[in-house]
Amino acid sequence: MTELKLPKPGTIEINPSILSSDFAALADEIAEIERADIKMVHLDIMDGHFVPNITIGPPVVEKLRKHSKLFFDAHLMITEPRKYAEAFVKAGTNHITFHIEVEDNPKEFIDILHDMGVSAGICLNPETPVEQVEKVASFCDMILVLTVHPGFGGQKFIDSAAQKIRLLREMVGPSVRIEVDGGIDTTTAPIVVGYGADTLVAGHAIFSKKDRIAAIQAIRDACV
Ligand code: DX5
Ligand code: ZN
Repeated sequence: MTELKLPKPGTIEINPSILSSDFAALADEIAEIERADIKMVHLDIMDGHFVPNITIGPPVVEKLRKHSKLFFDAHLMITEPRKYAEAFVKAGTNHITFHIEVEDNPKEFIDILHDMGVSAGICLNPETPVEQVEKVASFCDMILVLTVHPGFGGQKFIDSAAQKIRLLREMVGPSVRIEVDGGIDTTTAPIVVGYGADTLVAGHAIFSKKDRIAAIQAIRDACV
Protein backbone atom coordinates (compact mmCIF):
# COMPACT_ATOMS: atom_id res chain seq x y z
CA MET A 1 0.00 0.00 0.00
CA THR A 2 1.25 3.48 -0.81
CA GLU A 3 1.24 6.35 1.67
CA LEU A 4 -0.47 8.82 -0.64
CA LYS A 5 -2.90 11.15 1.14
CA LEU A 6 -5.91 13.09 -0.06
CA PRO A 7 -4.78 16.68 -0.79
CA LYS A 8 -5.73 18.98 2.10
CA PRO A 9 -8.85 21.10 1.41
CA GLY A 10 -8.23 24.57 0.02
CA THR A 11 -7.17 23.74 -3.52
CA ILE A 12 -9.14 22.94 -6.66
CA GLU A 13 -8.16 19.49 -7.94
CA ILE A 14 -9.00 18.10 -11.36
CA ASN A 15 -9.62 14.39 -10.99
CA PRO A 16 -9.75 12.54 -14.33
CA SER A 17 -12.16 9.58 -14.50
CA ILE A 18 -10.80 6.61 -16.43
CA LEU A 19 -14.29 5.58 -17.49
CA SER A 20 -13.94 7.19 -20.92
CA SER A 21 -10.33 6.07 -21.42
CA ASP A 22 -9.06 3.14 -23.48
CA PHE A 23 -9.38 0.24 -21.01
CA ALA A 24 -7.05 -1.86 -23.14
CA ALA A 25 -4.28 0.69 -22.52
CA LEU A 26 -5.13 1.90 -19.02
CA ALA A 27 -1.56 2.22 -17.73
CA ASP A 28 -0.59 4.37 -20.72
CA GLU A 29 -3.74 6.46 -20.40
CA ILE A 30 -2.98 7.19 -16.74
CA ALA A 31 0.70 7.87 -17.50
CA GLU A 32 -0.39 10.46 -20.05
CA ILE A 33 -2.68 12.42 -17.71
CA GLU A 34 -0.04 12.22 -14.97
CA ARG A 35 1.95 14.74 -17.02
CA ALA A 36 -0.82 17.33 -16.52
CA ASP A 37 0.22 18.21 -12.96
CA ILE A 38 -2.66 16.38 -11.34
CA LYS A 39 -2.59 14.64 -7.97
CA MET A 40 -5.36 12.08 -8.29
CA VAL A 41 -7.19 9.78 -10.64
CA HIS A 42 -10.82 8.63 -10.26
CA LEU A 43 -11.43 4.89 -10.64
CA ASP A 44 -15.07 4.07 -11.40
CA ILE A 45 -15.78 0.60 -10.02
CA MET A 46 -19.07 -0.95 -11.23
CA ASP A 47 -20.50 -4.36 -10.44
CA GLY A 48 -23.43 -4.78 -12.83
CA HIS A 49 -25.83 -4.74 -9.84
CA PHE A 50 -25.79 -1.26 -8.34
CA VAL A 51 -25.42 0.08 -11.88
CA PRO A 52 -26.12 -1.55 -15.26
CA ASN A 53 -22.44 -1.68 -16.22
CA ILE A 54 -19.23 -3.49 -15.19
CA THR A 55 -15.71 -2.03 -15.13
CA ILE A 56 -12.66 -3.19 -13.19
CA GLY A 57 -11.88 -4.94 -9.90
CA PRO A 58 -8.98 -5.18 -7.43
CA PRO A 59 -6.63 -7.23 -9.70
CA VAL A 60 -6.61 -4.45 -12.30
CA VAL A 61 -6.10 -1.76 -9.65
CA GLU A 62 -3.17 -3.76 -8.25
CA LYS A 63 -1.48 -3.86 -11.66
CA LEU A 64 -2.14 -0.14 -12.27
CA ARG A 65 -0.59 0.70 -8.87
CA LYS A 66 2.80 -0.38 -10.19
CA HIS A 67 2.51 2.10 -13.06
CA SER A 68 1.35 5.26 -11.28
CA LYS A 69 2.22 7.53 -8.37
CA LEU A 70 -1.15 9.27 -8.44
CA PHE A 71 -3.60 9.17 -5.53
CA PHE A 72 -6.14 6.46 -6.42
CA ASP A 73 -9.69 7.62 -5.68
CA ALA A 74 -12.04 4.63 -6.00
CA HIS A 75 -15.73 5.31 -6.51
CA LEU A 76 -17.44 2.05 -5.59
CA MET A 77 -20.71 1.81 -7.50
CA ILE A 78 -21.32 -1.63 -6.07
CA THR A 79 -24.06 -3.07 -3.85
CA GLU A 80 -21.65 -4.62 -1.31
CA PRO A 81 -18.87 -2.10 -0.71
CA ARG A 82 -17.98 -3.59 2.71
CA LYS A 83 -17.30 -6.96 1.13
CA TYR A 84 -14.74 -5.60 -1.33
CA ALA A 85 -13.22 -2.55 0.42
CA GLU A 86 -10.26 -4.42 1.91
CA ALA A 87 -9.35 -5.97 -1.45
CA PHE A 88 -9.32 -2.53 -3.05
CA VAL A 89 -7.17 -1.12 -0.24
CA LYS A 90 -4.71 -4.02 -0.51
CA ALA A 91 -4.59 -3.43 -4.26
CA GLY A 92 -3.36 0.11 -3.65
CA THR A 93 -6.45 2.29 -3.51
CA ASN A 94 -5.90 5.41 -1.37
CA HIS A 95 -9.47 6.60 -0.97
CA ILE A 96 -12.73 4.67 -0.95
CA THR A 97 -16.10 6.24 -1.68
CA PHE A 98 -19.22 4.16 -1.08
CA HIS A 99 -22.84 5.00 -1.86
CA ILE A 100 -25.12 6.02 1.00
CA GLU A 101 -28.00 4.25 -0.78
CA VAL A 102 -26.51 0.83 0.06
CA GLU A 103 -25.07 1.42 3.55
CA ASP A 104 -27.11 1.34 6.78
CA ASN A 105 -24.32 2.26 9.19
CA PRO A 106 -22.10 4.71 7.32
CA LYS A 107 -20.22 5.94 10.42
CA GLU A 108 -19.11 2.40 11.23
CA PHE A 109 -17.93 1.84 7.66
CA ILE A 110 -16.04 5.17 7.64
CA ASP A 111 -14.25 4.06 10.83
CA ILE A 112 -13.39 0.71 9.21
CA LEU A 113 -11.91 2.49 6.20
CA HIS A 114 -9.87 4.84 8.40
CA ASP A 115 -8.59 1.85 10.37
CA MET A 116 -7.44 0.34 7.07
CA GLY A 117 -5.37 3.48 6.48
CA VAL A 118 -7.35 5.10 3.68
CA SER A 119 -9.51 8.18 3.53
CA ALA A 120 -13.25 7.77 3.22
CA GLY A 121 -16.03 9.27 1.19
CA ILE A 122 -19.78 8.97 0.79
CA CYS A 123 -21.54 9.43 -2.53
CA LEU A 124 -25.09 10.64 -3.15
CA ASN A 125 -27.01 9.73 -6.27
CA PRO A 126 -28.71 12.68 -8.03
CA GLU A 127 -32.08 12.03 -6.36
CA THR A 128 -30.69 11.33 -2.84
CA PRO A 129 -31.32 14.23 -0.43
CA VAL A 130 -28.49 15.69 1.66
CA GLU A 131 -30.45 14.89 4.83
CA GLN A 132 -29.44 11.28 4.31
CA VAL A 133 -25.80 12.11 5.10
CA GLU A 134 -26.36 14.90 7.60
CA LYS A 135 -25.25 12.93 10.67
CA VAL A 136 -22.07 11.52 9.12
CA ALA A 137 -20.94 14.09 6.54
CA SER A 138 -18.38 15.68 8.85
CA PHE A 139 -16.68 12.31 9.48
CA CYS A 140 -15.91 11.96 5.77
CA ASP A 141 -12.70 13.21 4.21
CA MET A 142 -14.55 13.91 0.98
CA ILE A 143 -18.21 13.84 -0.07
CA LEU A 144 -19.10 12.94 -3.64
CA VAL A 145 -22.08 14.55 -5.35
CA LEU A 146 -23.12 12.68 -8.48
CA THR A 147 -24.46 15.00 -11.14
CA VAL A 148 -25.42 12.22 -13.57
CA HIS A 149 -27.10 8.87 -13.00
CA PRO A 150 -24.33 6.38 -12.21
CA GLY A 151 -23.20 3.82 -14.75
CA PHE A 152 -21.99 5.63 -17.84
CA GLY A 153 -19.67 8.43 -18.90
CA GLY A 154 -20.53 11.26 -21.23
CA GLN A 155 -23.98 12.10 -19.80
CA LYS A 156 -25.56 15.51 -19.40
CA PHE A 157 -24.89 17.45 -16.18
CA ILE A 158 -27.92 17.66 -13.82
CA ASP A 159 -27.88 21.09 -12.21
CA SER A 160 -30.59 20.27 -9.63
CA ALA A 161 -28.26 17.56 -8.25
CA ALA A 162 -25.32 19.98 -8.19
CA GLN A 163 -27.33 22.45 -6.10
CA LYS A 164 -26.89 20.04 -3.17
CA ILE A 165 -23.22 21.07 -3.04
CA ARG A 166 -24.24 24.41 -1.47
CA LEU A 167 -26.14 22.65 1.34
CA LEU A 168 -23.32 20.18 1.92
CA ARG A 169 -20.74 22.96 2.06
CA GLU A 170 -22.82 24.70 4.74
CA MET A 171 -23.08 21.38 6.57
CA VAL A 172 -19.37 20.44 6.62
CA GLY A 173 -17.58 23.79 6.44
CA PRO A 174 -14.19 24.15 4.72
CA SER A 175 -12.45 21.08 6.18
CA VAL A 176 -14.10 18.35 4.07
CA ARG A 177 -13.50 18.08 0.34
CA ILE A 178 -16.58 18.12 -1.89
CA GLU A 179 -16.14 16.15 -5.08
CA VAL A 180 -18.50 16.44 -8.02
CA ASP A 181 -18.82 13.80 -10.69
CA GLY A 182 -20.77 13.72 -13.95
CA GLY A 183 -20.92 16.04 -16.94
CA ILE A 184 -18.08 18.25 -15.75
CA ASP A 185 -16.46 20.31 -18.53
CA THR A 186 -15.25 23.86 -19.08
CA THR A 187 -18.84 25.16 -18.82
CA THR A 188 -20.03 23.28 -15.73
CA ALA A 189 -16.75 23.29 -13.75
CA PRO A 190 -16.98 26.99 -12.78
CA ILE A 191 -20.64 26.51 -11.82
CA VAL A 192 -19.88 23.72 -9.32
CA VAL A 193 -16.86 25.57 -7.93
CA GLY A 194 -19.25 28.47 -7.33
CA TYR A 195 -21.50 26.12 -5.38
CA GLY A 196 -18.56 25.05 -3.19
CA ALA A 197 -17.01 22.00 -4.86
CA ASP A 198 -13.22 21.68 -4.85
CA THR A 199 -12.58 18.27 -6.47
CA LEU A 200 -13.77 17.97 -10.05
CA VAL A 201 -14.09 14.56 -11.69
CA ALA A 202 -14.13 14.64 -15.48
CA GLY A 203 -14.09 11.71 -17.87
CA HIS A 204 -15.54 12.46 -21.27
CA ALA A 205 -14.31 16.07 -21.25
CA ILE A 206 -10.73 14.78 -20.94
CA PHE A 207 -10.48 11.37 -22.59
CA SER A 208 -12.59 12.21 -25.65
CA LYS A 209 -9.97 14.84 -26.53
CA LYS A 210 -6.81 14.09 -28.42
CA ASP A 211 -4.76 16.36 -26.18
CA ARG A 212 -5.72 15.31 -22.66
CA ILE A 213 -3.22 17.63 -21.01
CA ALA A 214 -4.73 20.64 -22.76
CA ALA A 215 -8.22 19.41 -21.82
CA ILE A 216 -7.28 19.20 -18.13
CA GLN A 217 -5.68 22.65 -18.25
CA ALA A 218 -8.78 24.08 -19.96
CA ILE A 219 -11.02 22.86 -17.11
CA ARG A 220 -8.57 24.23 -14.55
CA ASP A 221 -8.42 27.61 -16.35
CA ALA A 222 -12.23 27.76 -16.54
CA CYS A 223 -12.43 27.66 -12.73
CA VAL A 224 -10.33 30.78 -12.01
C1 DX5 B 1 -20.66 7.85 -13.59
C2 DX5 B 1 -19.25 7.93 -13.08
C3 DX5 B 1 -18.50 9.14 -13.44
C4 DX5 B 1 -18.39 9.36 -14.92
C5 DX5 B 1 -17.98 10.76 -15.19
O1 DX5 B 1 -21.15 6.62 -13.26
O2 DX5 B 1 -19.24 7.85 -11.69
O3 DX5 B 1 -17.21 9.14 -12.84
O4 DX5 B 1 -17.47 8.53 -15.49
O5 DX5 B 1 -17.83 10.84 -16.53
P1 DX5 B 1 -18.18 12.13 -17.37
O6 DX5 B 1 -17.22 13.18 -16.94
O7 DX5 B 1 -18.00 11.66 -18.75
O8 DX5 B 1 -19.61 12.50 -17.04
ZN1 ZN C 1 -17.34 8.29 -10.58
